[in-house]
Amino acid sequence: MPRRIDRRRFLWTSPASALGWFWLANAWQSRALGANERVGVAVMGLSRGLALARTFEQQPDAQVLYVCDVDRRRMQRGIEEVRKVQGRTPQGVTDFRHILEDKTVDALVVATCNHWHAAATILACKAGKHVYVEKPCSHTPHEGELMIAAARKYKRLVQMGNQRRSWPVIQEAIAAIQQGAIGRVYQAQSWYTNRRPSIGRGQESQPPEWLDYDLWQGPAPRRPYRSNVLHYNWHWFWHWGNGELGNNGVHMIDLCRWGLGVDYPTQVTSSGGRFHYDDDQETPDTHTAAFIYPGNKQIVWHGTSCSTLPGIQPADVLFVGEKGTLVIRGASYTIYDQEGRVLGQANGTGSDAVHVRNFLEAIRGGQRLNSEIEEGHKSTLPCHLGNIAYRVGRVLRCQPKNGTIVGDSQAQQLWSREYHPGWEPAV
Ligand SMILES: NC(=O)c1ccc[n+]([C@@H]2O[C@H](COP(=O)([O-])OP(=O)(O)OC[C@H]3O[C@@H](n4cnc5c(N)ncnc54)[C@H](O)[C@@H]3O)[C@@H](O)[C@H]2O)c1
Repeated sequence: MPRRIDRRRFLWTSPASALGWFWLANAWQSRALGANERVGVAVMGLSRGLALARTFEQQPDAQVLYVCDVDRRRMQRGIEEVRKVQGRTPQGVTDFRHILEDKTVDALVVATCNHWHAAATILACKAGKHVYVEKPCSHTPHEGELMIAAARKYKRLVQMGNQRRSWPVIQEAIAAIQQGAIGRVYQAQSWYTNRRPSIGRGQESQPPEWLDYDLWQGPAPRRPYRSNVLHYNWHWFWHWGNGELGNNGVHMIDLCRWGLGVDYPTQVTSSGGRFHYDDDQETPDTHTAAFIYPGNKQIVWHGTSCSTLPGIQPADVLFVGEKGTLVIRGASYTIYDQEGRVLGQANGTGSDAVHVRNFLEAIRGGQRLNSEIEEGHKSTLPCHLGNIAYRVGRVLRCQPKNGTIVGDSQAQQLWSREYHPGWEPAV
């Protein structure tokens, strides 16, 4: 039985609202998604999003109707790259709000910079679209809470792009832990290493003509254009990004949390700094964050952004149990007993396609989302908390029911952020 897709439309209430949150969402007629009908997809943000656009277009039951980027060069390339997959030509737009008006679009893929994730997701839910939002799902903890609220209120499917949740061998590894393969598991350690170069010192200048810089900034309070912030380097500024912990740490912390079966931490400790380069970056290039969870369990994450630790080969994730350890590297895992004997092992391959398939199957009503937004938020939140602990320079105590910070008003202030007027998120 095909699932019915609710249709909603929104209106911008005034010309001034063209860059704002002011809109009306009205129930719109539903249409049935026929068994042979493709899910209409739009993709926003075309670097990571370009890979996702190709993957969606490769699916027999999906069709990329729009590609969207505020960088017109990337938008043009997106059109051409999607056309190469099946010969169909998507529309290219720079303003995603045109997409929200189109009732043939069932799902929005949000692969923009982090400061845009919540705004785009909430508006898309209001407009009746399902959402595949890249990790980290939010730029602040409060945004994550609002995204859950939007998914619930508008009854939309919102999947976070932590694709490992859909990799079969990783699912098998987590199942092995849950079935007691290494006894009671009490710690998960995780690593991320890279050899990132310096971003140097940027200059303020006019934005390039190919970029709509105002729309790139969107919900973030306005700052002058700088030559070394985009693309990609916004990750290393608190105003738009979440550092390496929110960039790559979230993938591994998600696996740690999944394997340990924990939700919200009660204590967060963070230590690190900018130790490798002296440049414009604000976020730490060397960072260790540790989280205590209820039930005497701990997650530890180590990030070294400017060294791959040659000669060490750290695992992605290492689970420590009373009877042994389970190590995940890439899409493979090995189980050891306390003497170091191998008890089990499996090799797999990872891809985005399986996670995309899970999203499409969920839209068609055949599967549950593997990384529903509430789980995505629970895995993104420790990254935010680790960054907050780093920024205030203190250990945080948190409520086990929702992770909110206890007894530290300065730290709790970083639970949310300031917005450009008119862009305050509301569900
Ligand atoms: N799941 C994964 O493995 C994975 C891998 C890479 C990146 N990501 C995530 O994808 C996101 C993007 O990362 P990236 O490396 O592609 O960054 P990037 O800076 O290279 O690309 C972001 C793109 O979004 C565009 N953009 C910004 N605001 C926009 C708007 N309002 N409308 C349309 N386009 C807009 C930018 O112009 C840019 O082209 C990040 O959140 C990142 O964490 C996930």
